[in-house]
Amino acid sequence: MKPMTANDSTNASRRESFNLGEVVSVVGVCVDDEMWRLLDLFAGSTGLIQLRARVRDYRSAQDPDALLESLGNPTPDICLVDFDKDRHSAAIVAERIHSGLPETAVFAVSSQTHPEAILEAMRSGCGEYLVKPLDREQLVKAIARIGSRRKEKQEQGRAQVLAFMGSKGGCGTTTLATQLGALLASSFSRNSLLLDLHPDFGDAALYLKLIKGRFNFFELLENADRLDADFLQSFVMRHSSGLDLIPAPEGSVASREVLPAGALTHTLSFLRSRYEFILVDLPPALNDENLAVIRDCDQLYLVTVAEVSAVRNVARQLEYFGSKDIPRAKIRIILNRHHKRNVISDAQIEKVLQQEIFWRVPNQYPQVVKTIHEGDPIAQLSSSEVTRNLKEWAGSIGKKPGADLKKKEGKGLLGLWNR
Ligand SMILES: Nc1ncnc2c1ncn2[C@@H]1O[C@H](COP(=O)(O)OP(=O)(O)OP(=O)(O)O)[C@@H](O)[C@H]1O
Ligand SMILES: [Mg+2]
Repeated sequence: MKPMTANDSTNASRRESFNLGEVVSVVGVCVDDEMWRLLDLFAGSTGLIQLRARVRDYRSAQDPDALLESLGNPTPDICLVDFDKDRHSAAIVAERIHSGLPETAVFAVSSQTHPEAILEAMRSGCGEYLVKPLDREQLVKAIARIGSRRKEKQEQGRAQVLAFMGSKGGCGTTTLATQLGALLASSFSRNSLLLDLHPDFGDAALYLKLIKGRFNFFELLENADRLDADFLQSFVMRHSSGLDLIPAPEGSVASREVLPAGALTHTLSFLRSRYEFILVDLPPALNDENLAVIRDCDQLYLVTVAEVSAVRNVARQLEYFGSKDIPRAKIRIILNRHHKRNVISDAQIEKVLQQEIFWRVPNQYPQVVKTIHEGDPIAQLSSSEVTRNLKEWAGSIGKKPGADLKKKEGKGLLGLWNR
């Protein structure tokens, strides 16, 4: 293990390689002068951490409230507790911070490396054990883990809304939305929901082979003022992949109630707080309901095929969205049923649309029809080209940072913290 020195701390910034986003705030409890000096140099040279405060005694035994207050407001991301002065008091302090400030990660710092000492820190709620003299790599990795956990939490609090609209009927919009949703849920463990916004004849439930539920998405909107976790559950259907679905009405609805003002925005905002990804299967219509979703969404996928009428419609859709001030940057062109020998070339499509094709999904009719027939987007097509393609797309959207790295991390005692 290579200890951290003042020279190390002034090395070129590691920020780009770890891409942690915001700076992580740190408070130290009973951290010795030498370590605090090195941390200060590390903070200044890397910009990864910001030293917030240094508490010089273990106050917990006397007054736990005073201890938590002394850590500052807002509470720090990391609290470094030095165990070397008094291990027993340090363990109490760590435990108090762990239970009183669940958002704060507690790191033990110590020169002792025997298993009992490490286990004691672990039992008191420390998420990392940093051995003195401080090893730079160990510190950077521990901070990186905190950064990515925090990012994950932030993402969980606000789902990304991905809207799918065809340039005309039959382009494969429902196929792509259902399969991507199922892949996000199963292959990338993302808490995902699919909304079928077709007022009549929505197919999403059929494609997932789910018997349509008692209620549909429009009824949810009509009752938006009653929305809470229990009420939502009566609308949600769960696919075996883990994907949730709120279906379209069964058949055609002759007359629909006028939706309360703001119902759609309110409902989407509630759903955003409960999922990581919300996929919306929109009918190919330029109406106010669709526009409200598109204004609210993070990404609009315009699904088309290489046919003159479909491409012409995409051009019209882009023009319409431009006139409604929808930023071009959130619109992505998806070319479905792609084939090298398509009558219209990719270059011609991009020239007409003045926009690059974002994703090409291969034309594999028998495999896609089989998936729809069996209602299982993942199992049936695991080896097909179209599933590999969609899995790659789903990964670019939903793969968790460091998902591959986890498997490679050590399993030793210190490795217990790397979870
Ligand atoms: N990549 C693909 N390769 C081959 N066939 C496909 C592909 N994607 C979709 N299809 C087929 O195209 C047909 C229409 O698909 P889908 O119902 O998903 O389109 P849609 O745009 O949702 O249609 P609608 O306008 O009726 O809602 C289906 O039979 C489906 O099997
Ligand atoms: Mg459809």
